[in-house]
Amino acid sequence: MLAFPLPGGAQETVCLQCHSAQTGPGSKAVKPWQASIHAENGISCHDCHGGDPKDAANAMSPARGFLGVPKETDVPAFCGRCHVGIRDDYLQSAHGRALGKGGPTCVTCHGAHDIKKVTLDLINEKSCSRCHPYERAANIKAAMEKTERLIVAIEERLARFKGEGVDTEATDKSLFALRNTYHRLFHEVNTARVTNESAKLQGELGKLDQTLQKIDEQRAKRKIAGAFVVAAALVAALLFHLLRKTCD
Ligand code: HEC
Ligand code: HEC
Ligand code: HEC
Ligand code: HEC
Ligand code: HEC
Repeated sequence: MLAFPLPGGAQETVCLQCHSAQTGPGSKAVKPWQASIHAENGISCHDCHGGDPKDAANAMSPARGFLGVPKETDVPAFCGRCHVGIRDDYLQSAHGRALGKGGPTCVTCHGAHDIKKVTLDLINEKSCSRCHPYERAANIKAAMEKTERLIVAIEERLARFKGEGVDTEATDKSLFALRNTYHRLFHEVNTARVTNESAKLQGELGKLDQTLQKIDEQRAKRKIAGAFVVAAALVAALLFHLLRKTCD
């Protein structure tokens, strides 16, 4: 039994049982992982580190696929088993070409266990001025900001619709795809490409936003139409009442 609630889709494993009961460095990963987007999506210790999540005695045996802790130069391949497109973009980039020679790896920017859903806040002076002037980071961020604002605005509208019981599945899917394309853009760290691709994405996002605006307008019209029906029914009831009185 675990002494803590499991987030989202995560399952109880011997890895979690044993590591959460430890006091040394082995226990440090558990808490940050619990609050991560990986835990929320059911990606657990063994999905990254390998090993046997059901057999405590052999859990960390290489024969059961245990990979251990990756060396710095192995991190992109380690994360890239799942994030294939991003791994490829990264490896081609100025950052990837500097792997092992002072360039950042995935965990430099995202962490290893406390990984969160990404936002542009990841590009900030503190983490991007460690190795070179912040200016080049600021330029790429500026190119991405408008797209980010559009995505956030659409997400907020969708959240409101959902609260009102509107079916948003199709829009959710389109936004998900556009959001992925957009967030993937970063890893090439190529400011010119980000600027060009962002312009295209903003066009697509604009269309999506218009579709949602139309739904909003239709709903407003329906509310007015609804009010008319109610008013008409009231008038009819009143007339009927008066008519009956005159007949009496
Ligand atoms: C019965 C207890 C136990 C189980 C089960 C267990 N571990 Fe461990 N694990 C440990 C201990 C003890 C260490 C050493 C920790 C330390 O250095 O303090 C460790 C270390 C590790 C390390 C670091 C290894 C290194 O080279 O530094 C990783 C990664 C790890 N475990 C992952 C897992 C995964 C994944 C599973 C499940 C498939 C798992 N563990 C299951 C007890 C366990
Ligand atoms: C998203 C993939 C991922 C998941 C999930 C994950 N780890 Fe790790 N873990 C890593 C990476 C990458 C490193 C190496 C970190 C570095 O190089 O800074 C690491 C390092 C470690 C270490 C070595 C000490 C340290 O903190 O650097 C231990 C112990 C460990 N992980 C245990 C666990 C346990 C236990 C779980 C489940 C609660 C877990 N990990 C879940 C990717 C993951
Ligand atoms: C076993 C597969 C797997 C491994 C290995 C893995 N991830 Fe993930 N990762 C996922 C899944 C599934 C999600 C949640 C769904 C999504 O956003 O794609 C996710 C989400 C993320 C997100 C948030 C994406 C967003 O939409 O905001 C980041 C950042 C991330 N992972 C980075 C990493 C890093 C860094 C590593 C290596 C330390 C790693 N991942 C290893 C499967 C994996
Ligand atoms: C661990 C060191 C390190 C960190 C942290 C780092 N970079 Fe870099 N960055 C490099 C290296 C090394 C290069 C390639 C050599 C050079 O141009 O100086 C580079 C190059 C770049 C380039 C130019 C790419 C090109 O093709 O000319 C941009 C843009 C960039 N980084 C943005 C960022 C952003 C944004 C962050 C923060 C999210 C960041 N960097 C964090 C090391 C780092
Ligand atoms: C220099 C810092 C830096 C490095 C190195 C880096 N990332 Fe990212 N990553 C970011 C930033 C910044 C974003 C989000 C930008 C945005 O808001 O679009 C991001 C976005 C992501 C996302 C979300 C994209 C999506 O499709 O939803 C994932 C997943 C991810 N990174 C995984 C990785 C993996 C795996 C590696 C290593 C191969 C890696 N990152 C290397 C900074 C970095």
